[in-house]
Amino acid sequence: MDNTVVLNGLRFHPYLRREQIDEQVARVASEIRRDMEGKNPLFVVVLTGAFMFAADLLRHVGINENQIAFVRYASYEGTSTTGSVKQIMGLREEIEGRHVVIIEDIVDTGLTAEKMLADLAGRKPASLKFATLLYKPESSRTGFKPDYAAFTIPPKFILGYGLDLDGKGRNLADIYACEE
Ligand code: IMP
Repeated sequence: MDNTVVLNGLRFHPYLRREQIDEQVARVASEIRRDMEGKNPLFVVVLTGAFMFAADLLRHVGINENQIAFVRYASYEGTSTTGSVKQIMGLREEIEGRHVVIIEDIVDTGLTAEKMLADLAGRKPASLKFATLLYKPESSRTGFKPDYAAFTIPPKFILGYGLDLDGKGRNLADIYACEE
């Protein structure tokens, strides 16, 4: 069976299957539970790409005393970064003294992560951690390293499980990589 997905004339092949994703999401969730149990954490989900990862991750974390909030940043056009990160929707919650865990879909150049951490660190959280579904260390322009990562991958363009190509393909249950 041909599982290739074609979007905007680009071909994407299955890269990480649902079962592998579930396994690694459960692992990251148990690491977060170990670190955040009893701390009433505030989870900050970065829209739009992290919505599916966050939904699965937070079901597994299993800490009921917590809050979930959303922020939105944008930097990508097509399959490459514009290099400038825009905050589209900021965080309204008070975070002073709170244990904050940011939940992101992918760390590529690290520019979005650095911008978010800079925005939030000034608001005096008790701790600030960063969880990502995918981490591409070879694409880094900042040296930023996430505290939790489900997968460390080479610098491929990824689609599905929340990640998009110009807004398309976020619905796919598996993770696909662009043909090179
Ligand atoms: P960074 O600021 O370059 O680290 O990129 C962060 C944002 O770029 C992510 O939140 C995604 O929205 C987008 N992005 C980076 N790499 C990919 C990819 O492979 N597929 C889809 N979106 C990506």
